[in-house]
Amino acid sequence: MATLSTLRKSIRSQHLTNEQDCIHTLIKTANLSADTRGQTVLRAAKIVEEIRAEKSPGLMEVFLAEYGLSTNEGVALMCLAEALLRVPDAKTMDDLIEDKLSEKSWNSHIGHSDSSLVNASTWALMLTGKVLNTKEEEGINSSMGRLVKRVGEPVIRRAVKAAMKEMGNQFVLGQTIQEAVKRGAKRQAMGYTHSFDMLGEAALTDRDAQSFVASYADAISYLAKHSNSDDVRKNPGISIKLSALHPRYELAQKDQVMDILVARMLDLTLQARNANMGLNIDAEEADRLDLSLDVIEAVLSDPRLAGWDGFGVVVQAYSKRAPYVINWLHALAEKLDRKIMVRLVKGAYWDTEVKRAQIDGLPDFPVFTKKTATDISYIGCARQLLGFNARIYPQFATHNAHSVQTIMDMATLENMYEFQRLHGMSGGLYDQIMDKNSMRCRIYAPVGVHDDLLAYLVRRLLENGANSSFVNQIVDKEIPAIEVVNDPFDAWDALKDHISASVVNPADLYLPERINSAGFDITSVTDMARMTAA
Ligand code: FAD
Ligand code: 2OP
Repeated sequence: MATLSTLRKSIRSQHLTNEQDCIHTLIKTANLSADTRGQTVLRAAKIVEEIRAEKSPGLMEVFLAEYGLSTNEGVALMCLAEALLRVPDAKTMDDLIEDKLSEKSWNSHIGHSDSSLVNASTWALMLTGKVLNTKEEEGINSSMGRLVKRVGEPVIRRAVKAAMKEMGNQFVLGQTIQEAVKRGAKRQAMGYTHSFDMLGEAALTDRDAQSFVASYADAISYLAKHSNSDDVRKNPGISIKLSALHPRYELAQKDQVMDILVARMLDLTLQARNANMGLNIDAEEADRLDLSLDVIEAVLSDPRLAGWDGFGVVVQAYSKRAPYVINWLHALAEKLDRKIMVRLVKGAYWDTEVKRAQIDGLPDFPVFTKKTATDISYIGCARQLLGFNARIYPQFATHNAHSVQTIMDMATLENMYEFQRLHGMSGGLYDQIMDKNSMRCRIYAPVGVHDDLLAYLVRRLLENGANSSFVNQIVDKEIPAIEVVNDPFDAWDALKDHISASVVNPADLYLPERINSAGFDITSVTDMARMTAA
């Protein structure tokens, strides 16, 4: 068996590797015949049809289907939501609302949606836009407009802010852990479990970090009272972002990270271990991955964690390194004689990764650039995880009925894995799966106040607003069910010969004027070692 350090080297070697080569290997790992895949698509399409027939989507889902990221209006609303919660003063807020709401074609959305509430919102947005956009008009119209605008601004500001808060409420279970547990009780009674996430990430000061640590510790001690099973998989869990625990969680500050952040993480982990609840380390930006593995190894190696099966790690399937990370995690669990949990997600930072790689002039992207590639990777990684079941309890976190059905078709043993979904998303899918297939499902439940919501909210808006997302497509009944659950292997075959089209390579970002300058990746262990040696 390869050593941990050899496996770490293989992870690093895949960081910016070629997309087609990765997918070629992953297709082999997935090892699914055309016939099996065809059956899966038919079953998944049936799930979609049943969800569409049985359950009307929530207001937010319908709203985001109408105002997705493919329209100017949708983009304007996302920008507004992104910025509004953190704008401190009324004047800037009014300017922002005016900038985003005026001069957009709201009227083109009128009557589009099946939902009267979404249509009513469209009217409101159109009227707001018109009132705010009075500068160009002449004479009496102009002064009337100015008057309405002056009288109306505080009202508009409040209404828009309230609407944005409402968006946040969709995705947050409670402002405190007590409230969240209470609100989650109904789902708990239906058979769901929860993994609570204390909102907050990327601490900027040590004071922030200490306050996040304290809120995680409080949450664990409260949840300990609700962890009544001997089986850790049945108890509530907690999800932690390492970036919340230290303000300089970066390679350049590795000594501090291994000293302070590891100590903080270990404290929290021991508390979770004593309560026999699950504790999960969320996956964040690609440039944190290598360092996160050092932290994970240091924490998991503590002998006091022996005999506890609740330590969890998230792997992002959109990362070219994903299968190699899984091999390393498995080898680590073997070496330490531990059982661990691995949550497989597709990844929530895609736009950031693509833009950063372009700006930094990297030789390639750390993530796949085709959604289909990520879908295939998810299945390949799922196959790997299911094969490591003596050491790894897989937690498949997806809202996509095709990914769900593929896993149910691949898994041979019952209770060897669980599904996971985010609070406020895919309730219909999992209510159905749990009912018909007696599956386990855990809900990831963010807890916190609006001030800490922003980054999380933006990721959910991007996910729900992108027209390539499953959650966006299922709401659009114009797309036939069979297309919503399209087989990614067939889709890959269809596009692999004109693979380069959609995302501009980092080097080509400024073409035709010039080739982008090649950047230094100061978050890469390999590049840093080369520079240090030079
Ligand atoms: P789909 O619609 O099938 O997939 C959407 C995903 O495809 C996008 O999110 C992106 O990853 C990928 N994608 C989209 N366009 C492209 C493209 N052009 N090229 C390549 N890939 C593309 N995310 C994290 O990053 N870290 C976490 O710790 C984490 N924890 C989670 C916990 C739970 C319980 C759940 C449910 C989700 C979590 N997520 C996390 C978020 C998760 O990454 C997204 O919800 C997920 O990617 C959506 O995938 P899907 O299968 O539900 O939907
Ligand atoms: C996120 O914070 C759910 O961890 C995931 O977007």
